[in-house]
Amino acid sequence: MNIGMHLKKNSQASITRAVLRWYRKNARAFPWRRTRNPYRILLSEIMLQQTQASRVVEKYPRFLQRFPSFQSLARTRRSSVIRAWRGMGYNNRAVRLQQLAQVVMNEYGGRLPRDPELLQQLPGIGRYTAHAISCFAFGQNVPVVDTNVRRVLARLFPKLAKQKDIWHVASSVLPTKRAYDWNQALFDLGATVCTARTPQCIACPVNRHCPSAFRAKALRSKPSRPEPRRNGLPNRIYRGRIIELLRKSPGALPSNKIGARVKDDFKPNDLPWLHELLRSLERDGLVKLKNGASTVHVSLAE
Ligand code: ADE
Repeated sequence: MNIGMHLKKNSQASITRAVLRWYRKNARAFPWRRTRNPYRILLSEIMLQQTQASRVVEKYPRFLQRFPSFQSLARTRRSSVIRAWRGMGYNNRAVRLQQLAQVVMNEYGGRLPRDPELLQQLPGIGRYTAHAISCFAFGQNVPVVDTNVRRVLARLFPKLAKQKDIWHVASSVLPTKRAYDWNQALFDLGATVCTARTPQCIACPVNRHCPSAFRAKALRSKPSRPEPRRNGLPNRIYRGRIIELLRKSPGALPSNKIGARVKDDFKPNDLPWLHELLRSLERDGLVKLKNGASTVHVSLAE
């Protein structure tokens, strides 16, 4: 798409050329860049949503070995998917990924739709992931904006970024060809050069076009609400510990035993808090609860 009145045509062309040339020389070699298989691309993008690329590189091939297709993922027990998600964090993603595989098998004949609008209706898929799949698996010319890309664009096109939604900026600077490489290049630029804290403007292929070069400040994201905590640790950490404990347990565990294993100095007055956490895990489809005489028995969801 053309950037029209906002930027001179030749500087847009020159930015595109410089970024793509830089990417040819500096692209990081990731396994998900060697495939166009929709299932494999989807899995990588779900994993990359909240987990560092270096960690995903480790876990991705193992998960694929265990679950090579939508079909294998749709058919298995939920607890097997949660176990295979080990080491990734944010376990809700494992539940939604399996639900997605089931929708794809039951409603789409085992094939992911290409249209970002339809993709966005699937469990666990937001605007970002829908566009990523559409571009990387199906070769569509669409922008893909994650946190890194947002930062790169906001620094390179600060005026535009102030006036318009960042997705709008991203589509107006998207080259008409090679959207795949352009989008992947922006990821790499954001991760290795145009970093949040100490951007390496000296190494940037577009520093001469960049109004923020050599004076980029970290773009602050909105301050988020403080996470609920107990004894200094966010509940998210305890949730992760509970799932990790259950991964290793073949059967159900009583809640008081879980409490003692996941929290230092666990006391009876921690029980209401723990039961609330367990209920939140149950609502998210990660665990199954069964009331006992004086305790709750907890296992991974089947
Ligand atoms: N972050 C999100 N998607 C990515 C990708 N495909 N490659 C590298 N980093 C990413």
